[in-house]
Amino acid sequence: MNMTPELDVPRLEVRNLVRTYEGRRVVDDVSLTIKAGQVMCLLGPSGCGKSTTLRMIAGIEMQDSGEIWVDGKLVCDTRYRVPPERREIGLMFQDFALFPHLSVADNVAFGLRHGSKAERRARVEQLLERVHLTRHIDDYPHQLSGGEQQRVALARALAPRPKIMLMDEPFSGLDNRLRDGIRDDTLSLLKEENAAVLLVTHEPEEAMRMADEIALMRAGRIVQRGAPYNVYTRPVDKAAVAFFSDINVLQATVNGALADTPFGHFLAPGYPDGTDVDIVFRPQHVRLDFDRNGKGPLPTASDGVPARGVVQRARFLGHESLVEFRMDYDGSILKATVPNVFLPEPGRPMWLTIRRDRCFVFPAQTS
Ligand SMILES: Nc1ncnc2c1ncn2[C@@H]1O[C@H](COP(=O)(O)OP(=O)(O)O)[C@@H](O)[C@H]1O
Ligand SMILES: [Mg+2]
Repeated sequence: MNMTPELDVPRLEVRNLVRTYEGRRVVDDVSLTIKAGQVMCLLGPSGCGKSTTLRMIAGIEMQDSGEIWVDGKLVCDTRYRVPPERREIGLMFQDFALFPHLSVADNVAFGLRHGSKAERRARVEQLLERVHLTRHIDDYPHQLSGGEQQRVALARALAPRPKIMLMDEPFSGLDNRLRDGIRDDTLSLLKEENAAVLLVTHEPEEAMRMADEIALMRAGRIVQRGAPYNVYTRPVDKAAVAFFSDINVLQATVNGALADTPFGHFLAPGYPDGTDVDIVFRPQHVRLDFDRNGKGPLPTASDGVPARGVVQRARFLGHESLVEFRMDYDGSILKATVPNVFLPEPGRPMWLTIRRDRCFVFPAQTS
């Protein structure tokens, strides 16, 4: 194996980026590293600073402090700045605006400055074939569907073989039915081209589908980084759980490293006696049992004690059903999802059990 140190240098490294607008830090100490061939999704709610981060990396906006490195070379800090067009970065935004007066071929060729005419033409043809648009090579943008235009924009951004691809909500203008297919095609093309990809999105499903690594952003900061599986199954706080799905919350107070709830004791190691905690779990981790003459299933070590609730409403969502219960113990509402169709009538009593290994215990938020 070749162990030259350069191979370990990340393609893109961002160190401690800060950007302030009107006294507010909209990007607050963001650091990231992305390797060639790796897709990182910057995921967070609208307004959390994703686009601002991307624009600073692209060089179309200046940071207040922090550094940007590409292949181990400084590209931008507060004194030194490589201009955007020399950063070898491909850009793709939500409104990817093709040039309306240029053909598909000329749109894709637009950023190609190197090589002979024949070489440039070959690259255009290669990419258009790759995005299945060969037969539209001489068409103009207005002759294409939204999905086809999106693929032209992708080909145009990739044509000069950028070291880094920055994509800001590139699929959000597309209609839902098209999106999954285009996402998958885009991902395989990005992988073939071996760019380091930073893709911004506010949609968790998109990030789960596209990312090798997710950087979860909130209020200007990256609060968690990791493979999609890890971010989903080991969230750092209640808001991180809630960003990916509906949540249920039980409130409890710790006593002897245990939090006592109507569903039995939960382990709360490390919390001093008297700490208020939130026990957070997703609706998919609630098990339901029918009521038999006022009785539910027996308690188990893995699932604890069942608690009874009454169906408030049930809705079919396509691949699963969502059932809401009003709980007997305090009248609060808990949600459960069940695969396929399960639509019990309102007023029906049922027993809920929670999968212990899928619960998260966090300090209660004092609001
Ligand atoms: N040029 C600007 N001047 C002032 N405020 C801005 C400017 N650009 C963005 N903002 C503010 O910075 C915050 C982050 O914006 P943005 O990076 O676009 O978020 P996101 O892409 O995550 O939705 C928002 O509150 C936005 O209103
Ligand atoms: Mg944005």
